[in-house]
Amino acid sequence: MQGVTVIDHPLVQHKLTIMRDKNTSTAGFRRLLREISLLLGYEVTRDLQLTTTTIETPIEEMEAPVLEGKKLVFASVLRAGNGLLEGLLDLVPAARVAHIGLYRDHDTLEAIEYFFKAPGDLADRLVIVVDPMLATANSATAAIDRLKARGATNIRFLCLLAAPEGIARFTAAHPDVPVYTAAIDRQLNEKGYIMPGVGDAGDRMYGTK
Ligand code: PRP
Ligand code: URA
Repeated sequence: MQGVTVIDHPLVQHKLTIMRDKNTSTAGFRRLLREISLLLGYEVTRDLQLTTTTIETPIEEMEAPVLEGKKLVFASVLRAGNGLLEGLLDLVPAARVAHIGLYRDHDTLEAIEYFFKAPGDLADRLVIVVDPMLATANSATAAIDRLKARGATNIRFLCLLAAPEGIARFTAAHPDVPVYTAAIDRQLNEKGYIMPGVGDAGDRMYGTK
């Protein structure tokens, strides 16, 4: 699928299987999401541009590679996005963070915004939007609409699981935003849940319901 990268690393797939298992505990689910975010983050940042800086090693001076440009932004779609965010910040501790509070209306499946806070200069930065689930794509589309309205132009979307219906809707709405996911599942059920999926990611992370 154009614009979609499936991160099929064996460790990602192994961890995802344990996350899918309904018998995996809340603590286990949260720990695995954090672990998997390190592997997903490695792939989503693989082509970041480098420049060089002059440093002195204990032996001699050298021109050494460093990331180019302004610090990137991780934009977490609450609540479940925070499960990916924590591991990503271990990888890129200097990153800036945006929080976008959205929940799905259970009847209409529309995304309802309740919080938005982002760095002011989004236009100058790569923004990596993180949310484990791309189901109907209402949440991801709304989050990216909002970021674009605030000036973001260089955006990637990172999730754990995507439904084919969500990918189709998302890429139609935001064809300029590449999608990275650990797996593309079969389809959505009548309640908008991904099948086979992991269930409700926020509830599984936080033990709510
Ligand atoms: C979940 C998930 C996504 C959204 C995906 O959030 O974390 O944000 O559903 O579904 P969509 O593609 O159909 O919009 P939820 O609304 O359950 O909120 P929560 O994370 O606060 O539980
Ligand atoms: N949100 C979730 O948390 N899980 C799904 O399967 C769909 C949307």
